Amino acid sequence: MPPMPPMPPMPPMPPAPHYPATAADWRALAWRRLPRFLFDYVDGGAGDERTLAANEAGFAALQLRQRVLVDVSQVDTRSQLAGQDCALPLALAPVGLAGMMARRGEAQAARAAQAAGVPFTLSTVGICPLAEVAAASGAAPWFQLYMLRDRGAVRALLDAAWAGGCRTLVFTVDLPATGLRWRDVRNGMTAGGAGAALLRARQVLARPGWVRDVALRGKPLTFGSLSAQVPGGRDLNAFKAWVDAQFDPGVTWKDIDWLRGQWQGRLLLKGILDVDDARAAVASGAEGIVVSNHGGRQLDSAPASIAALPAIARAVGHQTEVLMDGGVRSGTDVFKALALGARGVLIGRPWVWALAAQGQAGVAQLLAHWQRELLLTMTLAGATSIADIDSTHLNALQEHP
Ligand SMILES: Cc1cc2nc3c(=O)[nH]c(=O)nc-3n(C[C@H](O)[C@H](O)[C@H](O)COP(=O)(O)O)c2cc1C
Repeated sequence: MPPMPPMPPMPPMPPAPHYPATAADWRALAWRRLPRFLFDYVDGGAGDERTLAANEAGFAALQLRQRVLVDVSQVDTRSQLAGQDCALPLALAPVGLAGMMARRGEAQAARAAQAAGVPFTLSTVGICPLAEVAAASGAAPWFQLYMLRDRGAVRALLDAAWAGGCRTLVFTVDLPATGLRWRDVRNGMTAGGAGAALLRARQVLARPGWVRDVALRGKPLTFGSLSAQVPGGRDLNAFKAWVDAQFDPGVTWKDIDWLRGQWQGRLLLKGILDVDDARAAVASGAEGIVVSNHGGRQLDSAPASIAALPAIARAVGHQTEVLMDGGVRSGTDVFKALALGARGVLIGRPWVWALAAQGQAGVAQLLAHWQRELLLTMTLAGATSIADIDSTHLNALQEHP
């Protein structure tokens, strides 16, 4: 038998934590930094925000088993997601308009993700173009796409992503139409008119730090990856109008077959919440799925992602890579998602709050804290590697939140 290759050295322990410490701290700082309509756009969900609340509550309800006298002198958080080595099983989720939260926000966040050893996903409706994000971080991000009515535009975006070095496509399937987010309605985000503009102008003037950082020094504030699709689009409104007209409620699994034929890289279908859809996703040839309700921003009263995860992982986890997102707020939550069958998680709001508060340094600090917390959770639960984490680490009576 050939000798075992030597194990690579353990990564160093992340630095000692300091304030801002938790996702809640970052959220509070983002509130102080952002104009109200932008804070609400990130923070809010659809309808009565029941699914949004359930996402977090589902994690809070899960209990872990505390195990003792296990040799935990070597605990390793490293993993692979979509064939990529990661310092911990976590990726930054695609978030539209992230570049409105801090100057050239996607570029800053991608730099922090790359330094922390986790993938960054660039939204179709990100502010920074793909080339800027790749150049800033030194790595091609995962690219997220919606199906657009104009299939020629989809083709062009896929080609641009491939040419830009992207090899993982996160294709979002839970947005045949945009959910009704009442906070955005209240803040005049959905309707034009002088009243709405005046309201937002007042909210902007109340945050001069944001005006200096983003409105004045963060330009151009357009959807960077779509500039070839919206020629002559000079402001966000022109891009938003184009995108709104492009959402295609007629998309079916047949279109996913078409997409599969167009993309030779890895395909992750994001927005699966139902076992039957998970099976269809596997049949469509996707290499992975993201169990997700879009962070509670689409169908209100849909189940929490963490509640939907176990049945989906049991049904297709042996055939495809099952990731999840929605409500992950700590390194301990990452552990819980893995215990319920996820290979890894995506996080949305937490990285955007940290970005809004302190830019790249904020995202870096958030990721360092979560890695440390995941490592400590593994230590105290008696799991020494990511592959060790399974449902035996959960308090058996609590398996289903
Ligand atoms: C402000 C905001 C914008 C988002 N934009 C996108 C997007 O452009 N594409 C996408 O696939 N998902 C988008 N999402 C959903 C996230 O990718 C992710 O599914 C969700 O945020 C996970 O929930 P969490 O925020 O509780 O972590 C967005 C979420 C938020 C909060």
